[in-house]
Amino acid sequence: MWLMAHPKFLKNQLYIVGDSYSGIIVPIIVQEISEGLDAGIEPILNLKGYVLGNPVTDANKDINSRIQFSYLKALITHEIYESAKINCKGEYVNVDPNNGLCKADLQNVTTCTQNLYSANILEPDCSIYASPKPKLLNCHRSIFMEQDFSDFLLSPTRPPTPWCRGTIKDWARCNKSLSYIEDIKSSLNYHRNLTKRGYRVLIYSGDVDMVIPYVGTETWIKSLNLTIDSGWQPWSVEGQVAGYWMRYIESIYSLTYATVKARNFFSNIFF
Ligand SMILES: *[C@@H]1O[C@H](CO)[C@@H](O)[C@H](O)[C@H]1NC(C)=O
Ligand SMILES: *[C@@H]1O[C@H](CO)[C@@H](O)[C@H](O)[C@H]1NC(C)=O
Ligand SMILES: *[C@@H]1O[C@H](CO)[C@@H](O)[C@H](O)[C@H]1NC(C)=O
Ligand SMILES: *[C@@H]1O[C@H](CO)[C@@H](O)[C@H](O)[C@H]1NC(C)=O
Repeated sequence: MWLMAHPKFLKNQLYIVGDSYSGIIVPIIVQEISEGLDAGIEPILNLKGYVLGNPVTDANKDINSRIQFSYLKALITHEIYESAKINCKGEYVNVDPNNGLCKADLQNVTTCTQNLYSANILEPDCSIYASPKPKLLNCHRSIFMEQDFSDFLLSPTRPPTPWCRGTIKDWARCNKSLSYIEDIKSSLNYHRNLTKRGYRVLIYSGDVDMVIPYVGTETWIKSLNLTIDSGWQPWSVEGQVAGYWMRYIESIYSLTYATVKARNFFSNIFF
């Protein structure tokens, strides 16, 4: 609609970009536009690819990867990790309620991770200064991750410790009562279909984000079975390593995967 209202931009290269939950929406939009272009539907957009940061892709796989992330970031021991992997058989979300060993392992994981600020494990948890949360119905919460990352933004009073950022006094809590149904749990098949088209894709992950951990993102990208074009290597800003990247190709399609060191999904952009 915007491009139709501003047709002088129609020929510009177009990338569809999003973060976090947009990982579900963006691949669907890209496929929709692509099919429209195939059918010759106007306006003809110069779609070149898409960009996603810490994207939700497959809720189950993303959340499961929090256990491996916790181990890789030294939040849990090798023993807790191995024990959970064996007892839960790698499935930490849909846990069999009769599997006591698995539940005990996940309890240990919870003990070790529940008081962290999960959207950035390097930052303090400032949610204790947040306004009370309304009860969320129908909310998919994993049993080992109860925290809502959006709490970070909500500091109704200036925090009494120097650990928490507190610049704006009165944040209004978002009205999340829109009624909609999440009927697409995974966008992986959209990504897979889009590898058949000549797009450039950039997927990046702040590597301290435990909500959508980089390890889960790496796992689904690997499952696309693409050919490695450039191996894992650092990228730099002003001579300092800022993260790592690699690139896959498949005919005229390319996918770059990058990490952003010590960042999470919104600090990727804003800091
Ligand atoms: C899990 O926690 C329990 C209770 O503290 C402890 O007995 C058990 O050894 C822990 N498991 C592992 C693998 O560390
Ligand atoms: C939130 O949005 C819903 C649906 O749009 C509306 O019915 C409700 O009154 C809003 N609540 C507040 C507190 O604004
Ligand atoms: C992927 O492409 C196949 C073949 O065109 C199609 O049948 C399938 O519905 C597509 N998947 C999604 C998620 O759109
Ligand atoms: C990727 O390769 C593995 C092992 O060869 C295979 O099991 C899997 O079906 C492949 N996935 C896709 C999307 O082709």
